[in-house]
Amino acid sequence: MSEAVAAVPRLRTRFTELLGIEHPVVQGGMMWVGRAELAAAVSEAGGLGVLTALTQPTPADLAREIERTRALTDKPFGINLTILPAITPPPYEEYRRVIVDCGVTIVETAGSSPAPHMEFFARHGVRVVHKCTSVRHAVKAERLGVAAVSIDGFECAGHPGEDDVPGLVLVPAAADALTVPFIASGGFTDGRGLAAALALGADGVNMGTRFLCSEEAPVAEAVKRRIVEASELDTRLVFRELRNTARVARNTVSEEVVRILADGGAFADVRPLVAGARGRRVFEDGDLEAGIWSVGLSQGLVRDIAPAGLLVERIVREAREVVERMHRAFAGTGGTRPA
Ligand SMILES: Cc1cc2nc3c(=O)[nH]c(=O)nc-3n(C[C@H](O)[C@H](O)[C@H](O)COP(=O)(O)O)c2cc1C
Repeated sequence: MSEAVAAVPRLRTRFTELLGIEHPVVQGGMMWVGRAELAAAVSEAGGLGVLTALTQPTPADLAREIERTRALTDKPFGINLTILPAITPPPYEEYRRVIVDCGVTIVETAGSSPAPHMEFFARHGVRVVHKCTSVRHAVKAERLGVAAVSIDGFECAGHPGEDDVPGLVLVPAAADALTVPFIASGGFTDGRGLAAALALGADGVNMGTRFLCSEEAPVAEAVKRRIVEASELDTRLVFRELRNTARVARNTVSEEVVRILADGGAFADVRPLVAGARGRRVFEDGDLEAGIWSVGLSQGLVRDIAPAGLLVERIVREAREVVERMHRAFAGTGGTRPA
C-alpha cells in the first residue's frame, strides 16, 4: 500500500462494516475489464475490487484469475456474476462452485434475479451484493436474503433498465425502501459524487466508467483517452425498442444501431453490428469504431487516466473536503464551493 493511500482516513459505513473493507468504493463488474490487476489495485487501496466471472472463458480460468488476484492483494475482493437470459447460458453453477471452492466470500450479482443462486451462496457463507436498476427489484432482492444492494441509476454504463430514473431520485427512494446496506451506482466519479451518495442515504458508491479509465484497466490507451475527451453527451442508448436498453459510447456503430431499430428493424438486423467480438476489439486494439462498448454519462466528469488505487484515495479525500465545506457553510464561516 502506498503512503498516500495509507494517509486517507477510513470512511466507515454499514457497507464497509459488512464486507470488512476500508472505504465504501466499489469497482463494479465489467466485461473484459474486471481482471486481477484492476480488482487488486482497488482492494489494495481499501475499496472493493471485483473480478468479472464471465470474462474468463471457463470456470477453471476464473480459479486461476482468483489466484492471480490473491498474489497481488490479501484484502477482500468480490466476483461479479452477470446472469443474463441466453439461448446457451454459461455454466453458472460451475462458476459459482469455483467461487466457493476458492474461498471468495463476496459476490456481485446482476442482470436478473439472484434467486436461483441464493441458497447455494448462503449455504457457503457468501455475501451477495445484488445490483439492480429499480427500487422494486432491490426490495425483492432484500427479501431473497442478499446482504446488500447496488442500485444503478439511469446514468450508468451498460444496462440502466427501462424505468429511466436517475440517481438523484432513485438513491433516496432506495434509502426509504431498503433495510440492508446499499451503494449508489451510475454517474459517480469523484468525491462530490461520494458525498452526495452518502447524503442521499447510500452507504457507498459503485463505479464502472471511472475505473475503466484507470491505469490498471486492461483496455487500449485510445479508449481511455476517448473517455477523458468525451462529454456527458457522448453516449447512446441502444436496444430501447427491444426492452433491453444499454448505454454505450456514441460512435458510428451505435448511431447505426439506433437508426436501424428506430426504423423498425429487428435484432437480427443489428446482430452483426453488436457482436461481442467487435466490442472486444475496441478494448484490445483501440479501434473506437470497431463495435459498441459500454460507458456511462459519468465520462463527462473523468479528466484523467489515473492509478485505480489513487482514485479510491482521491474520492474519499475529496468527499471529506466536501463535507467539511458544508460544515463551514452551516457554521456561517465559508461558502459551498471550493476556495
Ligand atoms: C466497460 C463496461 C463493462 C461493463 N460490464 C458489466 C458486466 O459485465 N456486468 C455488470 O453487472 N455490469 C457491467 N458494467 C456496469 C458497471 O458494473 C457499473 O454498474 C456501471 O458502470 C456504473 O455506472 P458508471 O459507469 O457511471 O460508474 C459495465 C460497465 C462498463 C463501463
